[in-house]
Amino acid sequence: MAKPGKASLWEEGGPLADIWGYDGGVPGPVLRMRQGETLRVNFRNELDQPSTIHWHGIRIDNAYDGVAGLTQESVEPGETFEYLVKAPDAGTFWYHPHNRSWEQMARGLYGVLIVEESEPVAVDRDLVMVFDDWRLDEARQIDVASLGMLHDWAHAGRLGNVLTVNGQPYLKQTVTPGERLRLRVLNTANARVLQLRFAGLAPVVLALDGQPVEPYPLADEILEIAPAQRCDLMIDMPGEAGVFKVEEVSRDPFAACELRAEGEPIARTAPLPETLRLPENPLASALDLEGALSVDLLMEGGAMGRMGAAMLHGERKGMRDLMEAGKVWSFNGIAGSHHDPALFSTALGRTVRMPIVNDTRWPHAIHLHGHHFKVLSRNGAPVAREEWRDTVLTAPGERVEIAFVADNPGKWMLHCHMLEHQAAGMMSWFEVS
Ligand code: C2O
Ligand code: CU
Repeated sequence: MAKPGKASLWEEGGPLADIWGYDGGVPGPVLRMRQGETLRVNFRNELDQPSTIHWHGIRIDNAYDGVAGLTQESVEPGETFEYLVKAPDAGTFWYHPHNRSWEQMARGLYGVLIVEESEPVAVDRDLVMVFDDWRLDEARQIDVASLGMLHDWAHAGRLGNVLTVNGQPYLKQTVTPGERLRLRVLNTANARVLQLRFAGLAPVVLALDGQPVEPYPLADEILEIAPAQRCDLMIDMPGEAGVFKVEEVSRDPFAACELRAEGEPIARTAPLPETLRLPENPLASALDLEGALSVDLLMEGGAMGRMGAAMLHGERKGMRDLMEAGKVWSFNGIAGSHHDPALFSTALGRTVRMPIVNDTRWPHAIHLHGHHFKVLSRNGAPVAREEWRDTVLTAPGERVEIAFVADNPGKWMLHCHMLEHQAAGMMSWFEVS
């Protein structure tokens, strides 16, 4: 149920901010299910604006993808909707509204969805760390006056001034020395790309956006994680008691939370990496790159960009008109909305390759619904490691090529997950039939 609630975001035990949350809390409840099973979720909207739930990263039946205006009508205040969440893949996923996401998520509507492997990796403790970036005002309330500000929309998106982990301003997580942790890290911020440093620990990456990777150590102990992305890490805690701070280092480094190892150490005998590979998910990973449908995606617009005009609701508009309409970004020359025709349509089972060009001065995290894609290359150079994602970060000026098998029928969104950019035109959809 989505409803208003309270949370102390500024400091522990500090002033309570009014939030919107699933079951009134932030984050919402951690939902757990087993791979291949169907979770039945009865969603009730107790907000005073329409909402939906999108199951981010789940290769779900289109009817339950939760996109207001595309896959379902929005759920009006007081109404309910039953979602049947069938999860083909195990991994770390999340859920959030897909109507006015830029507002509803900034107010706290999101939660974690864990799909358990039938044979999970052996760890002593499975932990969730959801990072969120909040903009609070002087009263330590969510700064609602600045919601929808064109300045944010045309720049990096809504950046906050407080970072919480699991809804807490400074999470202290107690662990045991020597323990093996599986840490599920999520970035649910509207727009902030996080760089997290796990100093003194040696995290090993197990999965990205829910999909297993060949385990590898995190270089410099720093994890870069864009809005909507997830990363599963394995950490063997050192054998002695101690406090390990997790810092956000994208600007002035500051401690965001800590792992506090105390008590009798656990003696660890299990051998390392070989045992850490997560079981494969049933992804269609055999790409037919030769016979693929090729679809270019050009991103333009934003502050300091070169975009002079774009199509808006089928009419060509200059920058001034676009700004007035709050649509300052485009995909392939179209400042998008659900009402535009599909970006492309493809037959079921066809491979789609998509060179994505970020011709803007800002990073963008491009998300595709209903599918996971392989990152093939960056700026023409093949990527070092195999990576299947549902959200890919592109740097200003970068060209990233992705490919996937369009094996899930329906109408699927693709958009920037900097939610202000999405609302301001960086959205489109495609159809698989
Ligand atoms: Cu996480 Cu279209 O969204
Ligand atoms: Cu963007």
